[in-house]
Amino acid sequence: MRIVGVIGAGQMGAGIAQVSAQAGFEVLLRDVDVARAEAGKAGIAKRLKSAVEKGKLDAADADAALARITPIGEVAPFAKCDLVIEAATEREEIKRAIFGEVAPLLGPGAILASNTSSIPITRLAQASQDPARFIGVHFFNPVPVMGLIEVIRGLGTSDATVAAVADFARTLGKEVVHAFDAPGFIVNRILMPMLNEAAFALGEGVANVRDIDTAIRLGLNHPMGPFTLADFVGLDTCLEICKVLFTTTGDPKFRPAPLLVKYVEAGWLGRKTGKGFYDYSGAEPVPTR
Ligand code: 3HC
Repeated sequence: MRIVGVIGAGQMGAGIAQVSAQAGFEVLLRDVDVARAEAGKAGIAKRLKSAVEKGKLDAADADAALARITPIGEVAPFAKCDLVIEAATEREEIKRAIFGEVAPLLGPGAILASNTSSIPITRLAQASQDPARFIGVHFFNPVPVMGLIEVIRGLGTSDATVAAVADFARTLGKEVVHAFDAPGFIVNRILMPMLNEAAFALGEGVANVRDIDTAIRLGLNHPMGPFTLADFVGLDTCLEICKVLFTTTGDPKFRPAPLLVKYVEAGWLGRKTGKGFYDYSGAEPVPTR
């Protein structure tokens, strides 16, 4: 594998582009227009510069990685990619439209992958031309820091595709875990019920935001408490994944907490909107409850 395409230059897409370029791959970073793709690359440049300033990265390596990233606004250049990873908005119709557009351009050996956090890979594969060359590759936020990639095999994914993508993921310096195409795969299947349960506990008045976060952070040695993490992931994303778990399994244990729904209805989506379980408008985050 030599050339990697990344669709979506937001937080996840830019992170994937960064680690791929740092591992030596040529990267085509695409967003809906080239200006957004360039903004994604500018964010990567900032992060690489900060790593150089901290003495964690050689300046020449940072420059070389950046030079390997080409921002694009159209899909035609993906024709030369060996692997294209979609990291667009977590909406099925958007992803399906992307696969419908990109799949016909790809060469006969190229692989199409989705960074979806919860949409079934087998279903998404139907929007690609060849389910054997379609796969889930789930990165974690922040991508340059997190050590894991989940590789998710759809019903039609070939062994060769699984092996090629697992190799690619290891080349990025990540640990690989394999999951079958079940709701939430491994991490979100286990993480989201915890974040959701924290919102139930908060809604029932068991404790306040700060104490629940402190309890999990210090009592379980998690780097972030559940509300800090939910705000970091985005409450809309958390709710969306809870809904997928609930509707696809029909199991009431996955029903979304009313308070989580309320916060999303209020537009309190976490860090990205400046308010979620914490208010981020001041110097320090202030709990909303
Ligand atoms: N991009 C790149 N690097 C980042 C970063 C970002 N967005 N945020 C932090 N970092 C780097 C810092 O530069 C620093 O690097 P250094 O050690 O080389 O100097 C390092 O991470 C540690 O950062 P800080 O000292 O600022 O802060 P912390 O020690 O508090 O660590 C954290 C921050 C790494 C985010 C840590 O709190 C953490 O691991 N939190 C849990 C994150 C998590 O669970 N992510 C998974 C979310 S679930 C998911 O993504 C799946 C999806 O489908 C929902």
